[in-house]
Order: sequence, then structure tokens, then C-alpha cells
Amino acid sequence: MGAGGTATGGTGPDGGGRPGLKPAPPDADATSRHPSESPVRSRAVAGRRSMATCTPRKVRLSWKPTEFSIIFRMTILVTGATGKTGRHVVRELLSSKKEVRILTRRPDEVRPPSGVTVVQGDLTAPESLSKALDGVERAFLFPVLHAIPEFAQAARRAGVRRVVLFTGAWAAGHTERDRGSWVYPRYRAAEAALSDSGLAEWTVLRPAPFATNALWWAPAIRADGVVRLPHPEAVCPVIHEADLAAAVTRTLLDDGHHGAHYTLTGPAHISQAEQVAAIGEAIGRPLRIERIPAEQWRTEAERFLRPGIVSDLLREWSDTERDPSTALPVLPTVAELTGRPARTFAQWAGDHTHDFA
Ligand SMILES: NC(=O)c1ccc[n+]([C@@H]2O[C@H](COP(=O)([O-])OP(=O)(O)OC[C@H]3O[C@@H](n4cnc5c(N)ncnc54)[C@H](OP(=O)(O)O)[C@@H]3O)[C@@H](O)[C@H]2O)c1
Repeated sequence: MGAGGTATGGTGPDGGGRPGLKPAPPDADATSRHPSESPVRSRAVAGRRSMATCTPRKVRLSWKPTEFSIIFRMTILVTGATGKTGRHVVRELLSSKKEVRILTRRPDEVRPPSGVTVVQGDLTAPESLSKALDGVERAFLFPVLHAIPEFAQAARRAGVRRVVLFTGAWAAGHTERDRGSWVYPRYRAAEAALSDSGLAEWTVLRPAPFATNALWWAPAIRADGVVRLPHPEAVCPVIHEADLAAAVTRTLLDDGHHGAHYTLTGPAHISQAEQVAAIGEAIGRPLRIERIPAEQWRTEAERFLRPGIVSDLLREWSDTERDPSTALPVLPTVAELTGRPARTFAQWAGDHTHDFA
């Protein structure tokens, strides 16, 4: 879902030598700033300096086993872990040899990879979170928006140090349209609940509309190969869920992201018609597009999406079909955070052929 500015800050996410992230848009959250300006980072740097200049050698040698185990056996809680994005976060954390605990409402249905601990809990039921949060150092917070204030407070009370949340690119307020959207104040309130929570470290990721939204077309593609769209030429730099997950993982594991709001996009603008063609190419079957009235799409979409989101989507598609320059710009943030180029929609389609077969 679209629109929205850019990553906060002026140099690479590690505060070091990687290319700079563009400045935040005028309407970006007032708390947005470059991670290197965060108080946490400043304290850490100041701490390192005083160690270097004042600490006697014998202190440096007295590394306590408890400190050692805190650093090397850090537990990371992943919420939304059974979902399309969260499952990639789990995989990436495991490959970084982290201890992973997942929160799910339905533990009996989950077959976790080995090494993952499963805890039953519901983000909308704060009393169910204490077991999941016990002993956790860092957490990935899935955006059940109205549950974020209570989760953030529970996490702070439990001693969680760092929380990474994603909302959506509309929260960056890239255009007047985005700032007037139904979802904009909801995303911003959720982000503020995290930043005002008193947690030591937090980071917000604002992803572009997901490439996985193309899964809405899967039943039609399987049935007759005709995708019915109100605005087939609407454009957007959609993002692969694995890139969002990679950015989540880096901001969970690497220092220097406290207080940042990063807007993440795919590598190029692509129209919905081009997405359908890419899926056809990946599954080896030509697909056809039929233009339908917006109100017909609204009636169908409101069966699975909130009416406010449906209106936001229709407004964005109509605008970007008429004037592609109003679309969310393509941003380099994924590559800057992860060190790899953002995946194309053609790659996404190749990764998802099974969903359309
Ligand atoms: N589609 C877009 O273009 C777009 C763009 C920006 C942001 N977003 C946001 O992205 C989210 C969808 O992400 P996704 O596709 O990765 O998710 P998904 O595949 O729909 O999976 C949903 C996950 O959330 C968990 N979950 C949902 N409600 C929960 C609750 N009350 N307590 C605990 N866990 C809960 C589910 O866990 P269990 O079922 O195991 O409990 C599941 O793991 C939505 O919130 C949407 O607003 C979407």
C-alpha cells in the first residue's frame, strides 16, 4: 500500500561506510532521525571511549560468565512467525545462530523448525504475553495495530531491550493522498505507542505494498486465467516479503537503528498488468486481464479487507494509473540495510509458482 518517503538518516544503517539513506520527507515523524544521533548509540560510543582511556587492564580481563551468556545466548521473540513475513524472519535468525521463540495463537497447528521454542499467546490479550516475553532480549512485533501499546508496555516491564515493528509506507506521508488515508493515523498512532513506550531501543520499518497482494488473484488464475482489475495500469514498487524479513532481521541484530523509521520498497515500479504478466511467465501460462468497475472490486474486496483500506487502495490505484509520478518512489533502503539488492517481482513470481498452480 503505497506511498511514503524514505528511510530516516543520511548514512548507511550501520552508521558507517555504506551509501547514504535519503533524508526523511517533510511530514516524516518528528522523532525520525539518523540512528547515529540516538541517545543509545551516543551512550555506547561514550562508554567505549571511557573504557579505552580510563579502564585498568585487569578490569578488561574480568569478563563475567553471566555477561558472556547474556550476549551469546540472547533470546529473540518473533510474533507473526507463522505468517508470510515472519517465517522468513525465523529462518534468517536461525541461520544467524540465534535462539528463537515464536508467539502463536495456535501452537498445536505449528510445526516449527528445530531449535525454535513455541509459546501460546495472543497479542490482543496482554495477560497471555508474560511467558512469551520472559527472558527475551529483542522482539519482532507484528502489526496488530491496536495491540501495540500494551505489547510495548509489557515488553518494557519484562526487560526487553529492543523491539522492531513494521507498519506500512503510507505512514511516511509521502503524498497528500497518503496523509489523508484511512490507515495513516492508525499507523502513526501505533508507531508513537512504540516510540513513547520507554523501551531502550526501537525501530520502525514502513514497507511498500507487498508483492504477496498478488495472491489475491490466485483463485482467478487457477480457475480461468482471467484477472479482473479496476486499475490494471496502477504502479507501485511492491516489496518481496523476504526483503522485508531481511530488513527486520538486520535491524534486530545490528546496532545503530534505534529511533529510525525506514521506508522499504522493491527495486522498480511495476504495474498490476506487468505483475500478472510476470506470474504468467513464471507458471508458463498466458493470463488475461479484464478491466472491471471500481465499485465491483470494492464489493468483492470488502469481504476480506476493511472498507477504509479498500478506499485507500482504490484512491491510490486510480491516482497512480492516471499519473505514475504520484506513486511511492523507489528507494535504496533494502539494499542499504541488508547489503543485497531488493528482489524483483519476477523473482517473487518464481518463488510463488506453487500458489498459482
Ligand atoms: N499487504 C500489504 O501490502 C501490507 C503493507 C504494509 C503492511 N501490511 C501489514 O502486514 C500485515 C500482514 O503481514 P503478513 O502477510 O506477513 O502476515 P500474515 O501472513 O497474514 O500472517 C499473520 C500473522 O500474524 C499473527 N497474528 C495475527 N493476529 C495475531 C494476534 N492477535 N496475536 C498473535 N499473533 C497474531 C499470525 O499468527 P498465528 O495465526 O500463528 O497466531 C500470523 O503469524 C498486516 O498487518 C498488514 O496490515 C500489509
